[in-house]
Amino acid sequence: MKKIIIAPSILAADFTKLHREMDMINKSRAKWVHIDVMDGAFVPNITFGAKVIKTIRGLTDKILDVHMMVEKPERFFEDFKKAGADIITVHLEASPNLHRSLQRIKDLGMKAGVAINPHSNVLLLEDILEITDLILIMSVNPGFGGQTFIDRTYDKLKILKKLIDNQNLNPFIEVDGGVKLENAVKLYNAGANVLVSGSAVFKSENPIDYIDKMLNLDT
Ligand code: DX5
Ligand code: ZN
Repeated sequence: MKKIIIAPSILAADFTKLHREMDMINKSRAKWVHIDVMDGAFVPNITFGAKVIKTIRGLTDKILDVHMMVEKPERFFEDFKKAGADIITVHLEASPNLHRSLQRIKDLGMKAGVAINPHSNVLLLEDILEITDLILIMSVNPGFGGQTFIDRTYDKLKILKKLIDNQNLNPFIEVDGGVKLENAVKLYNAGANVLVSGSAVFKSENPIDYIDKMLNLDT
């Protein structure tokens, strides 16, 4: 089993103090920084693109985990690579040519992930798993931070784990939305090994400490 990785979601950071927020992440034991790119079409919200990814790249050496909630995401792969992305995750629901998209991300030298919305069946991933570095299970409907975790996620993780084991694969299994200390152990036990956490980390009194506590769950 992979060790657990915490990926604070920068969406919940205070952008007037981005430098300070990134300093916090740098000092913490979080290995990844989760960056939510939203286009106002695939999801009802707009966030940021290559320019902000580049700014964040300039502030950290951590792995940049870019979650694209974007229609036709392939338009931006090259720009995001240039901006410093390490992992690009696209949505199953936004990718009619998913196999090609994943291959393109890998050809550009990044890791390729697939995200699925709460309404999508994880069995739809069966034929794509072997070329996927990361599966992202959305545990809220994408578009906003601070939403309530959907409990069905645990069952989805267990079904996904079986699919993965059947094919002897070992991708990252990431959960995103409403993740906090209270549900982290249960998610880890259900098979998740990357936990994205936005509001819970950034709104906690001591984010570095909070990340430590999340990491101590698998020891
Ligand atoms: C939601 C985003 C999440 C979000 C998580 O569409 O994909 O990454 O930032 O935020 P919290 O942890 O606050 O639910
Ligand atoms: Zn996300």
